[in-house]
Amino acid sequence: MSKNWLLTRRGVLCLGLGTLASIGTLAKSKALNNPARDFTVVGEASLKERAAAKGLIYGAPAKYRTLSSDAEFAARFPQECAILAAENDLKWRNIRPSPKRFNFTKGDWMLEFARTHDLLFRGHTLVWYKALPKWFKEKVNSQNAERILVDHIDKVVGRYAGQIHSWHVVNEALHLRDGRSDGLRNSPWLDVLGPDYIELAFRAAREADPKSLLVYNENDLWFDGQLWSTTANGEAKRVAVLKLLERLKSRGTPIDVLGIQGHLRGTYMTHLNPKKLRAFLADVADLDLKIMVTELDVRDHKLPKDINVRDRLVATAYEDFLSVVLDEPAVMAVFTWGLSDRDTWLSRFSPRKDGLAVRPLPLDDQLNRKLAWNAMARAFDNAPMR
Ligand code: XIL
Repeated sequence: MSKNWLLTRRGVLCLGLGTLASIGTLAKSKALNNPARDFTVVGEASLKERAAAKGLIYGAPAKYRTLSSDAEFAARFPQECAILAAENDLKWRNIRPSPKRFNFTKGDWMLEFARTHDLLFRGHTLVWYKALPKWFKEKVNSQNAERILVDHIDKVVGRYAGQIHSWHVVNEALHLRDGRSDGLRNSPWLDVLGPDYIELAFRAAREADPKSLLVYNENDLWFDGQLWSTTANGEAKRVAVLKLLERLKSRGTPIDVLGIQGHLRGTYMTHLNPKKLRAFLADVADLDLKIMVTELDVRDHKLPKDINVRDRLVATAYEDFLSVVLDEPAVMAVFTWGLSDRDTWLSRFSPRKDGLAVRPLPLDDQLNRKLAWNAMARAFDNAPMR
C-alpha cells in the first residue's frame, strides 16, 4: 500500500467529517493545502500503458463527428486509450431511423477506426430510456415490443459479433424516485414489457454475440446521501442495484459486468464514502461479476473560476475516487466519458454560468495533459496488480 494511497484516503476521511463548513470551501482548502497532493507522476507513459501495467484497460468514448473531422484529436486518441466506445453513434435514435431500417454507417466507421488503430471497441447502448427514435412512442406497444427489441439486439449485436469487447446492454434502468418497490425506472421499456425486459435484453445479446462482455450500466452509485432533488440516496441506489444483480444472477441471466458510470461532482466530493463504496464493490464481486468504471468525469461548473484551483479540485476528485475503486480486484477497466475538454458532453449539459469552458477530462482543449491526467496516472500506478 503506497504512502500516497494512505494520505489520499485520510484526506477523504477528514473531508467527510467537516460537515459544518461549506462543501466547496472545505474541499478547496483540503485539496489545496494537502502536501500529498502534488500530483507528481513518474515518467511519460500514457494512461493506457499505466493501466495495462496493472492488468487494467483504459479508454474513452468518442463521436463519429469528432473522430472523422478532427485529425489532431483522432491522432491523439489512440496514444492514450486502449479502447474506443461509441458515445452516441450506436444509440437507437442514431441507428434505427424507422422500425424496419437500420443505419450502420457511423457505427461501421467507428469499428474500422478502432481496428486501424489497434483499439478494442465497446458498444453503448442497447436499452435506455433516452435517445429513442421519434417513432418509438407511436409504433411500439406491448404486442410488438419484444419482437422489436430482440430484432434490434439481433441485428446490432449480430453485426459486430466477435469484434466488440463489451456491450452496455441495459443503461440506467433504476430510478428510485419513481417509487416502485423494485426501484425500476418508469421507462418506455418497462411500460411495454414489464420488469423482465432487462433479462430479455441480456439473453438476446448473449445469443447474438457469445464473446462480448455484457454490462449493466448505472449512474449515481458513488456517493452517500441525496445530492439533488431528482436523484436517490446513494446508499439506497446501491442496495437496489445489488438486488437487481442478485435477481438476474439467480435466474441465470448472462450478465458479466456492472458498469459504474462515475459522473463525479467537484462540489460534492465530501459525499464520497470510501468504506461504503468499497463494501459495495466487494458485494458486486461476490456475485461473480466484474466491474468497470464506465463514464468517469468531474463536473466543475460550480467550482471556482481560477483554472489552477479548479484543475486541482477536479484532479483531487479523480484521485479520491479511483484510489478507492481500483483497490477492488474485480475492477477491470476505466473509461472517462470523453478524453479531452475539447469534446465533452458537459459543455452543453452542465455549462458554467460565468461562460468559461468546463474542464472535466484528463486532457485540456489543446489535447495537453492536465492535473486530472496526473491524478489518473497516479491512481493507475498505485493500483494493485490484477
Ligand atoms: C451523452 C452524450 O455524451 C451526449 O453527447 C449526448 O448528447 C447525450 O448523451 N449517461 C450515458 C450516456 O449513459 O449515454 C450519456 O451520453 C451521458 C450520461
